[in-house]
Amino acid sequence: MSDEKVSRFSVSAPSNLLDKFDKIVKRLGYDDRSKAIQSAMRSLITEYTWVHEGEGVGVIALVYDHEIKNLEETLTDVQHRYENVISSSMHIHLDEHNCLQIIAVKGDSKTIQGLAKTLMTKRGVKQLKLAIVTP
Ligand code: NI
Repeated sequence: MSDEKVSRFSVSAPSNLLDKFDKIVKRLGYDDRSKAIQSAMRSLITEYTWVHEGEGVGVIALVYDHEIKNLEETLTDVQHRYENVISSSMHIHLDEHNCLQIIAVKGDSKTIQGLAKTLMTKRGVKQLKLAIVTP
């Protein structure tokens, strides 16, 4: 736990919105609304920062068929071109055919989106997810 100062505030919301929110808070297993609201606030901040300030931190996860000729070299070449937004990378051999690559990204949102799009469109890349978070 950090030693962050905590502020209290009250929130007004339409009853049906609060009902829906409380149902999901319960299903997710949060102890109280505060933690869920903090998480929702972080998501809003992340989205705003990503879209309007053009900055983000997160991960790209992609699954690809490592038996496709030259694909691994191509994916490596792309990552070298985008090294200014890549913090780290992890490779997991899933089974005989499939590899999972996890790339930690940080920096300009357009560049990160460009990296994701470039990787996603290579032949042999089966799935790619980009997740942005707020520290
Ligand atoms: Ni592999």
